[in-house]
Amino acid sequence: MTMAVLEILVYPDPRLKEIARPVETVDQATLDFIDDLEETLLAGPAGVGIAAPQVGCLKRIVIVDVSSKPKIPHHGHLVLINPVIVASEGSVVGREGCLSVPDYTGNVARANRITLSAWDKTGTEQVYNMEGFEARAVQHEMDHLEGLLFLDRLVSRRDIFRRKVYQKPGTPASKPS
Ligand code: NI
Repeated sequence: MTMAVLEILVYPDPRLKEIARPVETVDQATLDFIDDLEETLLAGPAGVGIAAPQVGCLKRIVIVDVSSKPKIPHHGHLVLINPVIVASEGSVVGREGCLSVPDYTGNVARANRITLSAWDKTGTEQVYNMEGFEARAVQHEMDHLEGLLFLDRLVSRRDIFRRKVYQKPGTPASKPS
C-alpha cells in the first residue's frame, strides 16, 4: 500500500461547502484514506490539522496535531472519526489559518474548553478534554465537516489578514520586508 499526497481543495471550491457523512465502519479503505490524509498534512505547509472534505472526501474524519507548538497542553497526534463536541465552555478570539485558504488568516471566536467524543482508528469511542489552541484546532477542523471555513466565522469583516508566507515546516521564517 503506497501512501499518496492528495490535492487540497482551495476556497472558493464549492465542494468545501458540503456536509460530510458519518463513517459507519472503520474498514481497510478508511484506514488507507487516513494514511493518505496524514501524508497530505505532512507534505503541506505547517498545518496543525486537516479534514477529509478538504481533499474532496465527504466523511467525518479529521486529523489534529498541535504538538509542534511549544508549551501548550495537547493530546499528541489525533485521528478523530465522527467527532462530536459534547460540552464546551468559554469563548476566546484567536488567529486561524487554513490549508484551503492559503493566502489569509483571520480572527475567530472559539470555545476555550471542550469535551470531545470521537472514534479512534480502531473504531473505539474516546473522550478528550481539551483547552486552548488544541480545542481551537479541533473546532476549526470540525467546521470543515459542516461545510464551514474560518472565513464564515470572522469576528468582524476587518478581522482578515493577508498572509506573507505560508511557512513550510523546518524552513526559517522569512524576514519582513
Ligand atoms: Ni481548515
